[in-house]
Amino acid sequence: MTLIEARNLPRHVAIVMDGNGRWAELRGRPRTAGHRAGSHAVRRIVRTARRLGIEQLTLYAFSEQNWGRPDDEVDALMNLLQEFLVSERDEILQNGIQLRAVGNTQKLPPHVREVLDELSVRSSANRRMVLSLALSYGGREEIACAARTLAQQVRDGTLDPAEVTEEALARHIPSVSFGDPDLLIRTGGEVRISNFLLWGAAYAELFFSRTLWPDYTAEDLYEAIAAYQGRQRRFGLVPFVRPSARPSELVGHTEPAPT
Ligand code: IPE
Ligand code: IPE
Ligand code: MG
Repeated sequence: MTLIEARNLPRHVAIVMDGNGRWAELRGRPRTAGHRAGSHAVRRIVRTARRLGIEQLTLYAFSEQNWGRPDDEVDALMNLLQEFLVSERDEILQNGIQLRAVGNTQKLPPHVREVLDELSVRSSANRRMVLSLALSYGGREEIACAARTLAQQVRDGTLDPAEVTEEALARHIPSVSFGDPDLLIRTGGEVRISNFLLWGAAYAELFFSRTLWPDYTAEDLYEAIAAYQGRQRRFGLVPFVRPSARPSELVGHTEPAPT
């Protein structure tokens, strides 16, 4: 069992949930079966993160580029997303979770947008944990969109080019409102960012897991957090040495074996 320090958790964990297709292929099943199994892993990890007291969990569920996949796979992913939102609605509301979406959600089919919008509104006052779903999301796309907004303001004479600062641009990048991720995990064995949270991840600690997303368990998350807690974040400065934790400050996960 992996032990982690309860008082030094990453405030914001972001996950590239990758490996559904390979999980299914390994079993000789259609890719959509992998996505279904992946949605069970989402439930598991949302529960684990909430129980741990993670403040923000941001999940990369569908990239702008994923629209280029075969129609039947895209349709299956949209249906699963709707199913997930409907089946988790009560648990999200009862557990104080605020659901947010980031990305070009106008492109989502109406049956998904409807439940997403409804749950976002109904959960908006919840404060225990913010669960953000990156949907139809692209890091480059949202930065380009922010740049367009500032360019229009310059053209209209309401913004001086000298005021096009890092802060001004960041104000128009939707994912920035979640705060920078402290720990960015990618499952599935690939070692890349794939257009996720490009701006916010500037100083994120990266953790790459070989576990395919449908197999990802609480223990895997604890392992990533333990690695994070062993890192020294410097933000370009000189080292700050944190005192190590006492054994009484360590916790392991104790929930029943994942389903
Ligand atoms: C991640 O799994 C889910 C989405 C991108 C929607 P993949 O479908 O990318 O799985 P692999 O990478 O092909 O195994
Ligand atoms: C990133 O995974 C997107 C999501 C997990 C939603 P991809 O499978 O789409 O990324 P690549 O193709 O391996 O870069
Ligand atoms: Mg993939």
